[in-house]
Amino acid sequence: MNSEIKKIEQRLQLAITSKDKVLENAAFHLLSSGGKRVRPAFVILSSQFGEDRTEYTYRVAVALELIHMATLVHDDVIDKSDKRRGRPTISKKWDQNTAILTGNFLLALALDYISYIPDNHVHAVISNAIIDVCKGELFQFRDQFNAQQSITNYLRRINRKTALLIQLSTEVGAISSGADEETVRKLKMIGHYIGMSFQIVDDILDFTSTEKQLGKPVGSDLMNGHLTLPVLLEMRSNPMFKAKIEALHSDSPRIAFDECVSIIRHSDSIKVAQNISDQYLNKALTLIESLQNKEAKSLFKKLIQKMSKRSM
Ligand code: IPE
Ligand code: IPE
Ligand code: MG
Ligand code: MG
Repeated sequence: MNSEIKKIEQRLQLAITSKDKVLENAAFHLLSSGGKRVRPAFVILSSQFGEDRTEYTYRVAVALELIHMATLVHDDVIDKSDKRRGRPTISKKWDQNTAILTGNFLLALALDYISYIPDNHVHAVISNAIIDVCKGELFQFRDQFNAQQSITNYLRRINRKTALLIQLSTEVGAISSGADEETVRKLKMIGHYIGMSFQIVDDILDFTSTEKQLGKPVGSDLMNGHLTLPVLLEMRSNPMFKAKIEALHSDSPRIAFDECVSIIRHSDSIKVAQNISDQYLNKALTLIESLQNKEAKSLFKKLIQKMSKRSM
């Protein structure tokens, strides 16, 4: 597995090499800052449930990471974030225009990278996934500080902005190695469940982790007006907290945010949210059990366990 990820790293480096040094340097700044490479890992793992890994497999793995990187760059522009993976964001180090263009650059590189795959289906599903990520981000923006939104609303949003890309990793990973239809269908669902759980954990960590681990300030989501699962759950059971959230707006004093963050950190809502995340993960694990390849199954489960215990 490690050697496979190394191959992906080399390809990513090569892919971003460009005649335009500003775009290359900005993309390299993000590429070299770490990142878990979760999506390529799932492409590679899922490909083990088919026949043989092909060039197609690597193309998809690299393209999905490039798309992911592009969404991170644009997400940081929208959120006016100063830090990502513990380093200054592209907007901070260069400027906002450079960041927007670097996001576009990464997206175009991804399209170029998969243009070598002679399978229209993969082009269609990847394009649709990009559209959905845009929608997810747009709805998140529209729902900033909206204390009336439902949990269903939240789940729909995280499906679009995160789960779909992970679902694509497992689905297309399996397709790329010629897995049978039933296996592809299962892996797609597995990716969906993992993706949902992954974003819920990400949203929990935004409260429970440390600035050092997160690579950005604790409570960033709330300060950006993104009401995530722990907040939505706490609002349900705690009317006083609900009133505080309803009163929040983008210019509220820092102390108002800190107070809400502290309530969440000490609340049961963290545990309840963790529970919901685990339920998704268990659905994924049950489906993995029903797959054939023993060795691939065990690797898959290992990666999931690692992810569920992650602290960044
Ligand atoms: C961060 O994704 C944004 C989410 C979709 C939760 P990752 O947690 O995969 O980010 P990196 O690539 O490892 O930094
Ligand atoms: C945004 O997710 C990235 C996308 C999935 C488009 P988050 O907003 O949760 O990611 P972080 O927390 O900034 O990494
Ligand atoms: Mg963000
Ligand atoms: Mg987050």
